Amino acid sequence: MAEQTSGDPLFRSHDPIFNRKELLHVGHVPDEDRIVGRDDEIQSVAAEVGAITRGDPPNNVMIYGKTGTGKSLISRHVATRAQDAARSNEIDCAVLYVDCSEANTETRATRQLALSLKEQTGYQQNIPLRGVGTMEYYQHIWGILEDCFDAVIVILDEIDKLDNSNILMQLSRAREAQKTDTYIGVIGISNKVQYRETLDERIDSSFGHRELFFHPYDASQLREIMRNREDAFQPDVLEGGTIELCAALAAKKHGDARKAIEILKEAGELARRTGSETVSESHIQQAQEVAEINRIEELTSGATVHAKLALYALASRIITGGRETYKTREIYERYVGICELVANDPITENGLYRQLKEQAFLGVIESEKTGGGRSQGSYLLHRLVTDPKHIVKAVRRDSSLEELPTYDQLHETSPSATNRDLDLDSFA
Ligand SMILES: Nc1ncnc2c1ncn2[C@@H]1O[C@H](COP(=O)(O)OP(=O)(O)O)[C@@H](O)[C@H]1O
Ligand SMILES: [Mg+2]
Repeated sequence: MAEQTSGDPLFRSHDPIFNRKELLHVGHVPDEDRIVGRDDEIQSVAAEVGAITRGDPPNNVMIYGKTGTGKSLISRHVATRAQDAARSNEIDCAVLYVDCSEANTETRATRQLALSLKEQTGYQQNIPLRGVGTMEYYQHIWGILEDCFDAVIVILDEIDKLDNSNILMQLSRAREAQKTDTYIGVIGISNKVQYRETLDERIDSSFGHRELFFHPYDASQLREIMRNREDAFQPDVLEGGTIELCAALAAKKHGDARKAIEILKEAGELARRTGSETVSESHIQQAQEVAEINRIEELTSGATVHAKLALYALASRIITGGRETYKTREIYERYVGICELVANDPITENGLYRQLKEQAFLGVIESEKTGGGRSQGSYLLHRLVTDPKHIVKAVRRDSSLEELPTYDQLHETSPSATNRDLDLDSFA
């Protein structure tokens, strides 16, 4: 926090823009008094796991909500507070956190649980990093829990990324199966509400659980979240209206607090790079563009080439055709042409339809059923949730797709309003 001045001006540590930049880091867990607008959610999560603090068995809970709605933050916050409250009642409670987007198999997840339990205790036995299966990791987990803890809260973040749900079964049945007497409370977190349906198919009733839904933040909540971190910047660096603009942009898009904070940070970096003394609204605008492209790239990075081509097809139709929504058939026709461009065998129209549904899932596109007349039947209309320019940029970042026309090239191919829609054919 304090400014240190080192002798060599080359390494002068005074930052003209940022004061405490760490407040804007993605992984930063703010203090309680910087958490905004989630009182009800905090209460609800506490109500599910709170029994632990009184020496009673907790409920399992699943939290659903879009990215940046505070799910990870609130879970960790409540778990830590529960641990403290338990401690003051002389109950030993462990908190374990697994990011299942990293530890995405049962083996990886159980290994991480075992290792972090070992780290929190004086456990002597060696836990091998490889060459052993989940059974051995479970043995260590039950052993350490039995020896050292009355209760444990296990946070399984981004649980939809796990390749199977066995870990939920194991954790929820452990007491019944007499593996351990330790009370186990699971907080499962998913960015996808759709995971809920597959979860019911995959697990039986032994993972009896409550469900909570976190909603996107509105502009005034985002404003408050950012105001609470204003001291990330040097005094008077943020121009009037910048936080308001940033909140308005983020609220309009997705109500995602992570993005709002990222935009603010990126805007500060932009200001610094360009030698500006203040952060202006135009820095926020530019930062928002960068953030949006990053977001799309993040969302689509795990998608198949065909999903990316389908997105590109929709974006290019919007750019060259000028309409907002297109039917599956129209996107498919464009997609087939694009496949030729990048020498890829197209999948079937039905396959493409499924890819589009998957994208709707990711929050990149929205699809809506439109009832045609009696003779026409109904069909789906797809729209992009973002600027098509960003989709084109993000898709072209895939090295196998960088041959695709750029936004400017697509834009140039739509000179006449009459046959605009056909113009991409000149690329095929
Ligand atoms: N209610 C809030 N108050 C303050 N900061 C928040 C709040 N909700 C989220 N944040 C911040 O926004 C970022 C994203 O939150 P996170 O909990 O990771 O969202 P999710 O897990 O739902 O994707 C984090 O940096 C977090 O500190
Ligand atoms: Mg999260």
